[in-house]
Formats: sequence, C-alpha cells, structure tokens
Amino acid sequence: MNDEQSLTNSYNKMVSNNEIQRNISQEILVSKLEQLKKKLENKRMPFRSTAGRVMSKFGFIKTLEKPQGIYIHGSVGIGKSMLMDLFFNQLDIEEKKRIHFHEFMKGLHQLIKNARDKNKRDPIKSVAFDYIKNMQVLCLDEMQITDVADAMIVGRVFEEFFNNQLILVTTSNRHPCDLYKDGLNRKLFLPFIDIMVSNLNIERLSSPVDYRKIKISGKKKYFLSTSPEDTIQFNELIAHFNLQEGPGIKIQINSREFLMERFHSGVGLLTFNEICSIPMSSSDYLEIISYLRLLFLDEIPDLSNGGDDSAKRFINLIDSIYDKKLELLCRADVVPENLYIFGKNKFEFQRTVSRLFEMQSINWPIKGKTH
Ligand SMILES: Nc1ncnc2c1ncn2[C@@H]1O[C@H](COP(=O)(O)OP(=O)(O)OP(=O)(O)O)[C@@H](O)[C@H]1O
Ligand SMILES: [Mg+2]
Repeated sequence: MNDEQSLTNSYNKMVSNNEIQRNISQEILVSKLEQLKKKLENKRMPFRSTAGRVMSKFGFIKTLEKPQGIYIHGSVGIGKSMLMDLFFNQLDIEEKKRIHFHEFMKGLHQLIKNARDKNKRDPIKSVAFDYIKNMQVLCLDEMQITDVADAMIVGRVFEEFFNNQLILVTTSNRHPCDLYKDGLNRKLFLPFIDIMVSNLNIERLSSPVDYRKIKISGKKKYFLSTSPEDTIQFNELIAHFNLQEGPGIKIQINSREFLMERFHSGVGLLTFNEICSIPMSSSDYLEIISYLRLLFLDEIPDLSNGGDDSAKRFINLIDSIYDKKLELLCRADVVPENLYIFGKNKFEFQRTVSRLFEMQSINWPIKGKTH
C-alpha cells in the first residue's frame, strides 16, 4: 500500500478540502483503523483464504495472530459511520460486506426461519456459518439491541462468527456493556457482551459537537418551494450531506422493497410522492425511520384538493417522525397551516400542523433520536 491510499492521508485531505474539521479523537481512531487495514491487507494472513481460516481455526497456523476487530462507540453525529465507511471503502479486500445492523438482523431472522422450516439442526449456528462463508470482514453500522428476539440470538451468531475468524468492525451509540440495557431476559444476553469485549477493541469516539446538527443549525427547517431563496438554501443543505454519492438503501418492508436512492450515513432525501402516495402504514414508516437520523422531505404539495389518502399518510408519517424524534427538514408549496384546509382528515391534521411547528423550533428534538 502506498501512502497515497492511507486512511490518514484521506482524512487529512478531507480536512484540507474543508469537507470536515480536524478532530483529535477521530485522528486516533483513523490510525487504529489504519493498523487494522494494514494487517488485513497483509497477504500472508491465514484468514485471507478459506483454507487458511480452517487451518488457523484448528491450530495448524499459529504464526500470525488474527487481528482484533473494532467496536466504535460514542454519541450521535460525531463521525463513527463516516470513519467506518472510509475504512471499508479503502480496504483492499474483496471478501468484505457493509450493512446496517437493523437490516442485518432482519436478514438473519429470515434465514433462521427458513433453516427451521427445513428442520436444519442447530439453525442459528448453521445460518451464522453460512452467512460469513465468503466473508473476511463485516462492517455493521449502528448496532443497537432493543428487540428481545435479536437479544436472544446475537450471542450464538457472533460466537460462530468469531470462531470462524471473521473480523468485525461496528459502530454504536452505546458501549457493549450498555447494550440492551434494562431489556427483557437481559441475563441471557450477557454472554454476547463478553464475546464482544473479548473479540474486539472497544474504541470510544468523542467530539464536542454533533456535526450533523452543526450543518443545519441556525437554518430554517421548513422551506417554501415558491421562494427561490428558500429553494437555494434547501438545496445547499442537501448538498452538505453527499446524498447523491452513496448507493442508497433498500429497506425491506414485509414482502416489499422500499428504495431510498438518496441516502448517506443516516440522512435521507425523499419526495412527498415517494413516501406518501403509495400504500404505507405507520409501522412501514417506523421501519423506514429506523434507518434515519435526519430526513429531507421535498415537494410537499397543497393537499386540500383530492389529497385525502395522501394527507392521511402524511399525518401518520409526521406522527412517526415526531415519536422517534427524527430531525425533519421540509420543502412545501404552502405554509403548514395551509397544507390541508379542506378534506375529511381536517380535524386530525391540526395535530400535524402543530407538530410541524414544534419540529421547527431550535430546541427540537430535545434529546436526539431515542433508542
Ligand atoms: N470532523 C468532522 N467535521 C465536520 N463534519 C463531520 C466530521 N465528522 C463527521 N462529520 C459529518 O457529520 C455527519 C454525521 O457523521 P456520522 O454519520 O458518521 O455520525 P455518527 O457518529 O455515525 O452518528 P450516529 O450515531 O447518529 O449514527 C456526517 O454528515 C459527516 O460527514
Ligand atoms: Mg452512524
């Protein structure tokens, strides 16, 4: 690897291009990710090939130690996902995968269900083994355990992963010891914490600011499409989040797939039509919101004329956003109080208007997104 491709170099470039501000805690983490990257790219490492992994698992290869993966934790908006993505994108290894934790768990549950339906012996173990068959490095973004069904299987899954030489890099808002805090049957979850702590280097990232908040602070949150000035400002804000660059995200909603094309590191851009003119329930909205920290919602029309169904969905969407304390920036044809003056959902819509106003306040959301 030449110096040009080093993570430190890329980080420094982002600083000198004014894309980001220098942050010492991030620099330390970058150097740790760099060390891991170098070890992984070392062609002599046994786990670079499936045969080597099997041999090292059974103790035939002891010359080079398997490196520890990294568990990055810290508060919201401080660059955890950004740095993990930097590592992932520059890691010169084919057998790597990056996935959002929530999507990963949903996929696992489905695979385990299929394995159970086929009466496979030890379905969790066999699914975990198969999952990483052609994988050396797994990057999991935003690990959080709130669901008892997840809590009950993660220990077995990750034990199997680590036994089979997988290198894990993950981000989370919580230290492993605080995962699934106060959760149901937490005792049964504790072995997972031990597995994480003994197989990963636990790295805390800190920052004096939530960079995501800084990017939108002091700015309006509700823009009018009739105002050219508003439109310029709205588009400038969107441009700060590199939403066009990523591959987007595919969200599985029951048997449907919802594609959010403009999505990057928890920030998404959707038009009103994309999310309110197709059948969507509140739980579908909650599913989509679970991937987001900030949503730009564009092209909200005047809903008074014939927009009853989409107005009803908009009510559900805003309620879901409000409950989950998601940060929302909108661009609409009219001010909130004129969005839906006539129609059968007019009474309920008053709450939506009130919530839209509350969400524009600088103190909202008070504690960031709940987990
Ligand atoms: N040093 C920095 N200077 C300026 N902006 C930064 C810096 N580090 C990260 N950012 C920006 O802050 C935003 C949030 O970063 P990121 O998504 O990586 O945060 P996070 O720690 O993963 O947050 P969360 O816990 O909510 O997932 C991104 O738009 C990113 O580009
Ligand atoms: Mg993140």
